Amino acid sequence: MNPSPWILRHLDAVAPSRAIDVAAGSGRHAFAMADLGFSVTAVDRNPELASLYQESEVQFLCTDLEGQRWPLADHVYDLVLVSNYLYRPHFAELFQLVASGGYLLYETFGVGNEVYGKPSNPDFLLRAGELASALEASFDIIDERFEDVSSPSPAVRAGVFARRIR
Ligand SMILES: C[S@@+](CC[C@H](N)C(=O)[O-])C[C@H]1O[C@@H](n2cnc3c(N)ncnc32)[C@H](O)[C@@H]1O
Repeated sequence: MNPSPWILRHLDAVAPSRAIDVAAGSGRHAFAMADLGFSVTAVDRNPELASLYQESEVQFLCTDLEGQRWPLADHVYDLVLVSNYLYRPHFAELFQLVASGGYLLYETFGVGNEVYGKPSNPDFLLRAGELASALEASFDIIDERFEDVSSPSPAVRAGVFARRIR
């Protein structure tokens, strides 16, 4: 899969800095960020992905993001990117990863996507406005999306691009 055009568009607004790709999978966005000059950590629980990152500048961290213990305590990044992953119980910890002045760029499927196929479980679907209201008052919302798309295949896409202001 190619990187998301919505994500690429917003990456252009961020100066290359420390970035993390949360639940990075095969790294379509991690590698795109590295190409743009970001210093990138890609996190995923799947150890089989390690070989994809081995010869690259992207640092791969294999860890479970849904355990009782949050594995990224005390880590901060200038850009926290999440794509096609949702685990609400750790929202607060996830938002804490964003450094002061840093960005959260989050895009995944939205409620209504079940009409088109998977994911269809509400646990994996964002509600309209949900992320913006979950962010503390310390974030400025720069852009939000919640819309039906036809490309690369019919889906409901939801997302937020936000900046920590304090
Ligand atoms: C649908 S893929 C999205 C991959 C990538 N973000 C993208 O947009 O191409 C979801 C990824 O989340 C990872 N994942 C699922 N549960 C996880 C967990 N508990 N901890 C860490 N990674 C997890 C999976 O291994 C998979 O690579």
